[in-house]
Amino acid sequence: MSRVAYVDGRYVPHADAGIHVEDRGYQFSDGVYEVIGVHRGRLFDAEPHLDRLDRSLNELRIAAPMSRGAMRAVMAEVLRRNRITASGAVYLQVTRGVAPRVHAFPAGIRPTLVMTARASPPFDAKAARRGVAVITVPDIRWSRCDIKSVSLLANVLGKQSAIETGAFEAWMVDADGAVTEGTASNAWIVTRAGELITRQPDQAILNGITRRAVLALAAEQGITLAERPFTVAEAKKAKEAFLTSTTSMVKPVVRIDGKRIGSGRVGPLTAGLVDFYGRHLDDEAGVPVADRKR
Ligand code: PDD
Repeated sequence: MSRVAYVDGRYVPHADAGIHVEDRGYQFSDGVYEVIGVHRGRLFDAEPHLDRLDRSLNELRIAAPMSRGAMRAVMAEVLRRNRITASGAVYLQVTRGVAPRVHAFPAGIRPTLVMTARASPPFDAKAARRGVAVITVPDIRWSRCDIKSVSLLANVLGKQSAIETGAFEAWMVDADGAVTEGTASNAWIVTRAGELITRQPDQAILNGITRRAVLALAAEQGITLAERPFTVAEAKKAKEAFLTSTTSMVKPVVRIDGKRIGSGRVGPLTAGLVDFYGRHLDDEAGVPVADRKR
C-alpha cells in the first residue's frame, strides 16, 4: 500500500507530494523541523518535541501553523493513513511560507506545514548493543545550532564523510578542539573515572530530546554526570562512548577516528542505558509490564 503525506492542509499520495518553488524553505532554508519517534504504534516524547518546535519557531519568528491539538490530530492521521502500527517516525517541517524571493520577511504570508511518516524496524536491545564507528570533522556550522533548522548542509557533508570512511556518524569539533555533537545525534563519553559527560545545551548543539531522556535516566540510576565540553583527545581516552537521537536511540560508539574506545566492545554503563532507554519507550507507549519482552 502506498504512503501518504500531509502537505499544507491536504493528505496526498507521497509520490505526488510537493510544495511551491517559491517556498522559503526551498529557497532560504527558512524553516524548522522535528522528527518524533513511534514505538508500538504510539508517539514517544511528543510533548518535548512539540515544545522544541515552538521554541525553534519563536527564535526564527515564524508563526505556528496550527494549535498543538490540531498538530497532534494531523500526526495521528498521518500515522493512521501510513499504517504505522509498530515502530517508525513522523517528520514534520514548518517553513515561513511561499512568497516572491526577497530575503526579508514578506508581509502577510502563512507558514507551510508538511508531515510524513515512515515505518522502521522495532527497537531491538541486542542490535542496539552493537557498537558503531565515528569520525571527527571540523564543525563548520553557524552559531545557532540550538535551533532545529532545516539548514543542514554542514551536517550532510559530515555524514557523507562518515559513510565514505565506513563510519556511522561524524562528531563535529569546535575551534577549541571540543566535540560539539554528531551530524544528527548528541555525543557522550564515559571517563576512566566512570563519569558520564555530554556537552551542556548551549547554542553550539541541539538539545536532543533523547539526550534529555538519557540524562534523566542516568540521574535516576545515580550515575555521576557532568554537562561540559570534552575534547577529541579526551574522547579517544574514554572508557566508553555513545550517541543519542530519536532514530538511533542510544547507540554505543566503539571507535573514534579508527582508535578503539575502551575494550572496543560495548561497555557496561552504555549497555545499561540502552536497556533503560528501551524501558522508557515502553513507559511512553503505555506497554503493560507483563507484555514487555527483552
Ligand atoms: N536528528 N543533534 C543534531 C544535529 C540532530 O540533528 C539531532 C536529531 C540530535 C538529536 O536530537 P533528538 O534526540 O531530539 O532526536 C542532535 C534527527 C533525528 C534528524 O535530523 O533526523
